[in-house]
Amino acid sequence: MKLKDRVRLFIRHNRVILLLRLMIESLIEAWEQSKHLGASRMLNDEVKFAADLCIRAHAIEKGMSIGSVRVGFGVPKLLSLIDDLMLYVSRFPKASIDEYVAIIESYISFNREHGCAVEAVEARYEVLKRMYTCRATLQAGVAMKNRKETLEATAASFDIFSHSRCSVRDFDTQVVVDIDEVIAAVDIARKTPSACNRQSAHAHIYQGAKAHELLDFQGGCNGFGHDMQYALLVTADMRNYFINERHQMYVDGGLFAMDLLLSLHHKGVATIPLTTAYKSGRTRELKRRFGIAPHEVPVMIIGVGAYKESYKVAVSHRNPVESYYTLHR
Ligand SMILES: Cc1cc2nc3c(=O)[nH]c(=O)nc-3n(C[C@H](O)[C@H](O)[C@H](O)COP(=O)(O)O)c2cc1C
Repeated sequence: MKLKDRVRLFIRHNRVILLLRLMIESLIEAWEQSKHLGASRMLNDEVKFAADLCIRAHAIEKGMSIGSVRVGFGVPKLLSLIDDLMLYVSRFPKASIDEYVAIIESYISFNREHGCAVEAVEARYEVLKRMYTCRATLQAGVAMKNRKETLEATAASFDIFSHSRCSVRDFDTQVVVDIDEVIAAVDIARKTPSACNRQSAHAHIYQGAKAHELLDFQGGCNGFGHDMQYALLVTADMRNYFINERHQMYVDGGLFAMDLLLSLHHKGVATIPLTTAYKSGRTRELKRRFGIAPHEVPVMIIGVGAYKESYKVAVSHRNPVESYYTLHR
């Protein structure tokens, strides 16, 4: 082999050189993210501020959709959300908070219906109403679904099938979900496309007590985690990627996770995607406690359970189609 080729190979495969190149790439990325992530100068940026409000309002909405919801939950959170909504509309008068207002209203009626008056929230909401007039009346809060209609929709055309999938936080704990259904869904999801067909995604399936341990660790399903029967931790194998593909594993893994979610829906089981977005220390702990190899990156957890005859879901309003695309001619 020529010296030139030997040097080229050395540079390409040497770990220290790779580390230096990655540090440069990561530094550039950190610079970009320090400008654009929601955390930076949030209160001065309409989109960033709205993202924070969205997360907090959605937490209230999904709280109401939990099977064993505690009536009167979250009052301090509601009060601080309303305060920040007032700050937001005073800073960005043209912005719409119609969805968040609809969530607050559904929270108030939800509690009233269950005989729990949340006077402090109602009083603070009156102040917000004096500052802000809704432009549209949106549906928010909880919607009721039934298993029979959901199962019918899983055999319908793709648009109906896709729109019938919802994140479920209200499960039947008496009906057993067969492991074969879960494995059959993984089988369907093998058709997920991946960069150069590298197929680096993998589902670690946890059942029973081990699933509950993982769901407790996950932290975003308190109050309903133990009503689920499986937790599928989707990972992607870093060893399949090169320096220009530092995030490709999340694309491949994310596509697989979505396909798996739809495949499970097709199999008639109730699911919820759950985040594994942690800082590095917690990711390391997740890997250590749940038998994940160092070269795997956690992408997402899918919680799996059984549909109730009649079940609640969070409405999770979707923005209009125009906001989802830009047509470039
Ligand atoms: C990557 C990801 C992470 C999520 N993490 C959580 C979570 O930790 N807890 C939770 O209750 N819902 C979680 N969700 C569910 C979202 O809240 C839900 O998908 C969204 O509100 C849209 O509602 P839908 O799935 O019913 O259409 C997550 C969804 C995704 C895609």
